[in-house]
Amino acid sequence: MASVNSLASTLQQQLADALTAALPDAGTADPLLRRSDRADFQANGILALAKKLKGNPRELASQVTAAIPAGGLIKEIEVSGPGFLNVTLSDRAIIETLAARDADDEGRLGVPYNSAAGTTVIDYAQPNVAKEMHVGHLRSAVIGDAMVQILEFTGESVVRRHHIGDWGTQFGMLIQYLIEHPGELNHEGDGGAADGEAAMSSLNRLYKASRVLFDSDEEFKARSRDRVVALQAGDEETLSLWQRFVDESKIYFYSVFNKLDMEIRDPDIVGESGYNAMLEETCRILEESGVAVRSEGALCVFFDDVKGPDGNPVPLIVKKSNGGYGYAATDLSAIRDRVQNLKANTLLYVVDARQSLHFKMVFETARRAGWLNEDVKAVQLAFGTVLGKDGKPFKTREGETVRLQDLLDEAIDRASTVVREKAKDLTDEEITERATQVGIGAVKYADLSTSAARDYKFDLDQMVSLTGDTSVYIQYAHARSRSIKRKAGELKSQPHPELELAPAERALGLHLDQFAEVVAEVAAAYEPHKLASYLYQLSSLFTTFYDQCPVLKPEVPSDVAENRLFLSDLTARTLHQGMELLGIRTPERL
Ligand code: ARG
Repeated sequence: MASVNSLASTLQQQLADALTAALPDAGTADPLLRRSDRADFQANGILALAKKLKGNPRELASQVTAAIPAGGLIKEIEVSGPGFLNVTLSDRAIIETLAARDADDEGRLGVPYNSAAGTTVIDYAQPNVAKEMHVGHLRSAVIGDAMVQILEFTGESVVRRHHIGDWGTQFGMLIQYLIEHPGELNHEGDGGAADGEAAMSSLNRLYKASRVLFDSDEEFKARSRDRVVALQAGDEETLSLWQRFVDESKIYFYSVFNKLDMEIRDPDIVGESGYNAMLEETCRILEESGVAVRSEGALCVFFDDVKGPDGNPVPLIVKKSNGGYGYAATDLSAIRDRVQNLKANTLLYVVDARQSLHFKMVFETARRAGWLNEDVKAVQLAFGTVLGKDGKPFKTREGETVRLQDLLDEAIDRASTVVREKAKDLTDEEITERATQVGIGAVKYADLSTSAARDYKFDLDQMVSLTGDTSVYIQYAHARSRSIKRKAGELKSQPHPELELAPAERALGLHLDQFAEVVAEVAAAYEPHKLASYLYQLSSLFTTFYDQCPVLKPEVPSDVAENRLFLSDLTARTLHQGMELLGIRTPERL
């Protein structure tokens, strides 16, 4: 059997059964269980129940206590305060449950699959062609990738969509410029990181030069506009030049994603252009069903609660008065595709909070059109802005967008100082490898450990710190456990349910058991920061355990040592699994 019931859920069940047995009139009552400092758990549900049954809560609580089977899971249960139940679990139950997690033959630590799993299409990592990526694109990629891993782990089928900005009128100008200045987009490369940078810098140069011409030369502007028309009409030469911009940009995107240690697959890149063939039909359906109406020549959808500063309604424009389609028409078409062709039950958008109004209007429009309904929901996992140390949106000192490659390189550089100080016996090659895992992990963790909706300060010094809520701290706890294992030699990692546990062992054990519940909660609410905080707490409980409960000292009896080695190993496995879900590596040594 793979999946393991957590101690909390077994206890919940026992209390609920005892409630029903003691108070048959109560119907199904929730014992309202939560972790507690006084005992392991506290159940508060009897208070509300006593109110309902007009009884004395303390008396009811004693009746429930009497109905609980003795031995087994519960070591001690006492009525406290106005009618709470304080529950202490038996050490045996803790170790036996953890042993079952360890023995899970699927290697999932007993984490169950979600019985209501469906298909989620997740829209993340969506930079724009011919433009530099910024830290916002990094957030979408990091948070999105974590959600992909977490959802897949719970058994959800996940379809990834990278909705890159690869269409729009700016391509008229770019292509026209390239036609008039052939050879500007050529660089020889091997697909490595330097190649990505070279690709971006030639795109940048071209973008700037064409912009200057577009703004200063009326005739070039006119030729660019004609070029847009040719592009939209599917003119072959124009399309093949457009494709070159896309391909060149992808070299750059991939170099950043590679550096981020993130797998992005080509077939999942379905940019705005991928929905061109659907735009007309989307508009027709919306207009015929009356969801969209003509207003001043444009096709619009209106909302009661969306108004501009002047009090006039601000519509979602689906088709402009000049016949052009914009961002909204594309997103609406993408919804149709994802619901009807990809058979999604959930559409998840990992996009900047500054686009929340857009998604609110797009989702509402799709609901009115019937594409979204009770069976298919859409959610924006909106994230806040990345700020510099000064609390302002993250820019270079010169006020330009920070180049992501530079930023990631700097993180790796700082990390290598930390790694070098810690491990004196590493070769240069090992230092480079570890520094990469630590540096990239630090950037990802900083992003994932605050609730996504909040803005956060990008502070490399804090990110690579060995103390505090950082990935390095977690990676270090993991490496410590691995090092115990290496030094343990002949000593077996073996659970001993008959032993009495020290406080640090119990605390660690109870927390280890919560992993499955945290994963389920994080997957359901799209809140990776709760997984980060779980892992941080686990590391800190492990640190206390490490200090208080020696494993390899000669005076430690062998059964105690084996049990501790078991707890230490399960901690390492849980940290490794949890960090993997966040896209962060856990090196064996640090
Ligand atoms: N490319 C957009 C940007 O850079 C993000 C796309 C978000 N996804 C979507 N389906 N609209 O802001």
